[in-house]
Amino acid sequence: MATKLSVNINKIATLRNSRGGNNPNLVQVALDCERFGAQGITVHPRPDERHIRYKDVIDLKPLLSTEFNIEGNCTEKKFVDLVMNIKPEQVTLVPDSGGQLTSDHGWDTIKHKDYLIDMIAQFKSAGIRTSIFVNADIKMIEGAKATGADRIELYTESYAHNYSTNKELAIQSFVAAAKKANELNIGINAGHDLSLENLNYFAQQIPNLLEVSIGHALIADALYLGLENTIQLYLRQLKINH
Ligand code: PXP
Repeated sequence: MATKLSVNINKIATLRNSRGGNNPNLVQVALDCERFGAQGITVHPRPDERHIRYKDVIDLKPLLSTEFNIEGNCTEKKFVDLVMNIKPEQVTLVPDSGGQLTSDHGWDTIKHKDYLIDMIAQFKSAGIRTSIFVNADIKMIEGAKATGADRIELYTESYAHNYSTNKELAIQSFVAAAKKANELNIGINAGHDLSLENLNYFAQQIPNLLEVSIGHALIADALYLGLENTIQLYLRQLKINH
């Protein structure tokens, strides 16, 4: 089964917001990503709405024909209400704090076990698939399983950062985490700093990688290569024969 590509469109919203108008048109870009082959759209609304606005999420929902993945911090009531109202295919729980530039760590699924059990149950009761953003740490994978989550999203920043120095070493903890996840029968997503350079090796090495969500590098590549071509190139990196 091929790994799905979900395009994170936060950067499109950042560009739009920088001028206050509707250029680029976020909804149109999302629909074009789908038309160009993306199998999902990811958004990460934050309380300050500095990129994706809550209204964007509401506008997108009825128009998308692929998987809608909403990421964010479930300790924000506004986020939980939005997700429960929109009912996307998937919610990804990310423990980010207010002023954070971007997500920079996964959930501590052991320390916050009881809290996560409640949140996961709430989203699942609405028929929403649940995923927990975690570091590639076996204990955190076991902890995620204990919450009842359907999937984990592996935080791939360290892999991406170390890829060019020593890719075999960079992938090690991710392979171990993925093996544990497969053993426990919890699905595997991944994201953060994945790129045309490092994606293929990651997909080759991680057994049963269900989905990657990619924003920053993909949108940056699209400036040079065009969005359609870029999405096709990313999809090609994910075509692996295990
Ligand atoms: N996954 C999560 C949980 C994220 O917060 C982000 C960034 O918003 C991504 C994936 C995508 O990361 P990138 O923009 O580096 O591709």
